[in-house]
Amino acid sequence: AKRHFSTWFISRIRQDQRRRKKKMPGIRGPSEYSQEPARHPSLKVNAKEPFNAEPPRSSLVSSYVTPVELFYKRNHGPIPIVDDLESYSVTFTGLIHNPRKLFMKDIRSLPKYNVTATLQCAGNRRTAMSKVRNVRGVGWDVSAIGNAVWGGAKLADVLELLGIPKLTASTNLGGRHVEFVSVDRCKEENGGPYKASIPLSQATNPEADVLLAYEMNGETLNRDHGFPLRVVVPGVIGARSVKWLDSINVIAEECQGFFMQKDYKMFPPSVNWDNINWSSRRPQMDFPVQSAICSLEDVQMVKPGKVSIKGYAVSGGGRGIERVDISMDGGKSWVEACRRQEQGKHYISEHNSSDKWAWVLFEATIDVSQSTEVIAKAVDSAANVQPENVESVWNLRGVLNTSWHRVLLRLGHSNL
Ligand code: MTE
Repeated sequence: AKRHFSTWFISRIRQDQRRRKKKMPGIRGPSEYSQEPARHPSLKVNAKEPFNAEPPRSSLVSSYVTPVELFYKRNHGPIPIVDDLESYSVTFTGLIHNPRKLFMKDIRSLPKYNVTATLQCAGNRRTAMSKVRNVRGVGWDVSAIGNAVWGGAKLADVLELLGIPKLTASTNLGGRHVEFVSVDRCKEENGGPYKASIPLSQATNPEADVLLAYEMNGETLNRDHGFPLRVVVPGVIGARSVKWLDSINVIAEECQGFFMQKDYKMFPPSVNWDNINWSSRRPQMDFPVQSAICSLEDVQMVKPGKVSIKGYAVSGGGRGIERVDISMDGGKSWVEACRRQEQGKHYISEHNSSDKWAWVLFEATIDVSQSTEVIAKAVDSAANVQPENVESVWNLRGVLNTSWHRVLLRLGHSNL
């Protein structure tokens, strides 16, 4: 009877486990904010629900790789909860011959790559744009950007596992785009999940370094940044790096989600909320050349003498930073700043020793004898230059403000 009881007991446990597994999807997206993770106290909160926050600008230049807790956070809904990592899977479907689910162990069994890539929200530096004319969007200063070492499998390898060869522009079923669908619920999607897509040719190109990342700076990805699995699309605006993956679909046209079709597009200054035609513009992908001074606030008191100017510069599409120029006379004359990625080593744009997807940190020392405006502008390896005025790139959503970055130095008492 004892033996009979224990077999019955074990079979009950197994039955229970099976039932629990069935019930648990592995990950779920709550509809309210009661279970948000803890965040670093020095983050400047720009929108509480959903939580969007950026670090103080000075912290960006203290390390080439941004610490996870100080990395900006951009969430459109409550952070998903992983109930059971073992049963968590990503469904691959759409215009492919063998739709299937991949579990974390499948993704982890592929070669792991560490890609140092800068993630930048298209709305970075929006507050400066809104000073020209009102714009809609989260009020970011210059820190909706960070540089991390992302660890994971290359999407090109994952798609090959599913039967799509490297460097494929179209599947024979007509798939030309790869759509990433999350589990978080966003009000912009009427309670549906966040989603975005990239071209299949980019997804299957190993050189594009698109990752399904499960690590950030050598640690397991945390909840804010997409645990257990996110996409990282290097050189492209952050909006396409979808967090908390649920499914990946190979589709004929680009994703029709809100954030691809009704947001994150670049309009000319003449377009307003009455004459906007969303379908007239393509979804923004690569980000343009950008730089910002981070060692000084927009208006900073300094003592006469030497002042150190530090900041970041980055360009999209894997283009390197050729030059960062600093001016103290409104752009009439410029001095070139030093650039680095590795500590103590001069950065050479497009060199194989440089991280092509990552920012450079720059530094210059200037002599200040009177109140003055300091300007930074970067030039990328294709000789693209930041525009002089924010007015020329103003747009109603306040995206892609890459105008010359300016800070005002006032002579006075300071601890600098
Ligand atoms: N993915 C999901 N699922 N939900 C989101 O709200 N925000 C996007 C992108 N991926 C978002 C997402 C935007 S707009 C940006 S800028 C980046 O994630 C921010 O990534 P981070 O919070 O890890 O810095």
